[in-house]
Amino acid sequence: MKTIVTKSYDEMSKTAADMFETEIGNNPELVLGLATGSTPIGTYKELVRRHIEKGLDFSRTKSFNLDEYVGLSGDNPNSYRHFMNEHLFNHINIEKENTHVPDGLTENPEAYGKKYDQMILESGGIGIQLLGIGSNGHIAFNEPDEELPVETGLVELSEQTVEDNARFFQSVEHVPTQAISMGMGSIMKAEKIIILASGEGKSEVLSELLNRGKVTSRIPATFLLLHPDVTLICDEEAYSGVNR
Ligand code: F6R
Repeated sequence: MKTIVTKSYDEMSKTAADMFETEIGNNPELVLGLATGSTPIGTYKELVRRHIEKGLDFSRTKSFNLDEYVGLSGDNPNSYRHFMNEHLFNHINIEKENTHVPDGLTENPEAYGKKYDQMILESGGIGIQLLGIGSNGHIAFNEPDEELPVETGLVELSEQTVEDNARFFQSVEHVPTQAISMGMGSIMKAEKIIILASGEGKSEVLSELLNRGKVTSRIPATFLLLHPDVTLICDEEAYSGVNR
């Protein structure tokens, strides 16, 4: 795993945006794998700025998001579809019908998950996948457990994740406890992966990830150590526990 440590959150975001810009420049039909949460907001802001000021062109790109809360429709302000529209899609020239966020209202998550993976495959596969990392080491909503899902489907959120994400909701009781999430295999098939981490709250999990040199389903992000093209971009605070 290549690691880039930046002085600040802004520099982390710009570095990630640089990589997106380069990859889209190399392949205007790039398939983007996208994440939600606090961490990628600065990257999306920077991509929007580059679209407006420099004409960064998304017109032929497609996108697939990692996950969506079960029970929330796309127009719910807490849904990840809404998040993506607000932070990115509404401000760039990607065709809305080429943007995919799992359907939180699907009645058959298993069949839906298979269809989602198939759609990714048929689009040519994800060229660049953006990830955040949970404080418990999850990627997408693949939570620490004895076994990890390979394919996209229904997952239960851990108590830690529900607590971590309560900041976006009225109260912890309002946080959905299930999601449709891309599986570990679906993520690992991406050609290139960028994982972002910012702030003190991620320092412990990054030190576990980078100091360990072993894969464990207790920290799902460790599986990224097996992928040939992963770049971790993190700020100094998030990196502060590594090598200690
Ligand atoms: C979001 C996602 C999650 C987040 C992770 C970190 O689509 O799949 O894995 O990336 O929970 O969230 P933040 O960035 O809010 O700390």
